[in-house]
Amino acid sequence: MGQELRPNDHPWLQHYHLMPAKGWLNDPNGAVQFNGIYHIYHQYIPGQARGGAPSHWGHFTSPDLVTFTQQENFLAPDQPFDKDGAYSGSALVVDGRIHYFYTGNVRDEGYHDYTFSGRQQNVIHMTSKDGHHIEKRQMVIDAKGFPQGYTNHIRDPKVFQVADHFYMLLGARSIDNLGSILLYRSENLEDWHYRGVFLQGTEGQGFMWECPDYFHQEGQDVLLFSPQGVLGTLDTYQNQYSSGYYLGHVDWKKETFLPDTPFQELDYGFDFYAPQSFTDDAGRQILWAWMGVPDHEPDYVNPTVAYGWQHCLTMPRQLLVRKGHLYQQPLEEYQKLRQGHQKFHGVKEISEGVLEGEIFELLIQGDLDTFDLKLRQDTHVTYDGQRLCLSHGPSGYGRRRRYLRVDLVNRLQIFSDRSSLEIFVNFGQYTLSTRVYPNVSKQSVTLTNKHAVDVDFWHLSHDKEK
Ligand code: FRU
Repeated sequence: MGQELRPNDHPWLQHYHLMPAKGWLNDPNGAVQFNGIYHIYHQYIPGQARGGAPSHWGHFTSPDLVTFTQQENFLAPDQPFDKDGAYSGSALVVDGRIHYFYTGNVRDEGYHDYTFSGRQQNVIHMTSKDGHHIEKRQMVIDAKGFPQGYTNHIRDPKVFQVADHFYMLLGARSIDNLGSILLYRSENLEDWHYRGVFLQGTEGQGFMWECPDYFHQEGQDVLLFSPQGVLGTLDTYQNQYSSGYYLGHVDWKKETFLPDTPFQELDYGFDFYAPQSFTDDAGRQILWAWMGVPDHEPDYVNPTVAYGWQHCLTMPRQLLVRKGHLYQQPLEEYQKLRQGHQKFHGVKEISEGVLEGEIFELLIQGDLDTFDLKLRQDTHVTYDGQRLCLSHGPSGYGRRRRYLRVDLVNRLQIFSDRSSLEIFVNFGQYTLSTRVYPNVSKQSVTLTNKHAVDVDFWHLSHDKEK
């Protein structure tokens, strides 16, 4: 990544995760591969490290999904139809152009709750011939024309093509405070017609569903979204705002989604929200998420705010539908960053001082029954044969514990960056993502496990091995 864009180098600046060196980042937007180049945009407030100001779209490009260049901001909220935020949206390539759809957020003056009154969330369509310059930008759905029965919260268009039709999904909050996904259809990407409710949430499934996403793989339709306000238990929905998916089938005659599975959470860590996926030229379904969540203060505060920035994206992950479940796997391209391999065969223990590092990949394979793994300064991943527990000490800055119920653990692949950990359990059957802010230079990985396991460890770096 361009060093000149990271002026205030300090210990928590990420090395291989996408983040602007200044300002606030949230959702990934408009992920697309165009003429071979990957483009990923994101919600961005350039001028402040905290949220709450009108968002722009920041922009990164990459030839290989590993090496990224930060580009000029792509989109600013400077039109009457998006003056209070160029909110989230998606992209698709049609006839040699990238078409983007996003939410233009507009707030009225005066006294409003901005849920039941005072807000319009218009759908904006824009095109680009190169992914860098906007050619055309216009409102295609005026919020005033949204169906009855909904609050002002209808947003985050996901557009895709099925046969001769283009479809748009919008996340919504009904006046009864139920999450829903609405469906629109178009033949030309400009004239959109409301078709009805694609999926309606029920009591207990959250009051609002943000950021819908859809794809088809292995004969299954996959619907992802981010429900707000699902009540948590000890080991489910521990974040107030969560993200998850259904596997199911779309009835394209009735234009509704029929789930085949229960709704399943996508990630069990502290920091994962608003994921968005796209299909690359090789046919892979790749997901990015915001490695953060909204409104978590006062539970925890990211100390990077003092340095003028907050948040980053997760690594891009490949999505695979297998046996009624959605797996997330790190892209094999990331093996390019591996340096200085350390390998241990058949060990039950790795003690302090043997493996040290901040920016690394750790792979543990074998019978992981009842283990205690320490990472970084004071983060532990433990397993008692039933529940995996991710726990932070002071370097979690308020993050404490997250649990995952899992019957068997036979593989852990962990990606550590200066201020994050992404843990892939059982080839990505489950993931846990979290931010972490250690303040010591020596950070050892230690392990005790009941049975002998194989351990591989690599430092990860964009710089050539010395
Ligand atoms: C999700 C979200 C979206 C919205 C965007 C605004 O984090 O609330 O629903 O479009 O962020 O930044």
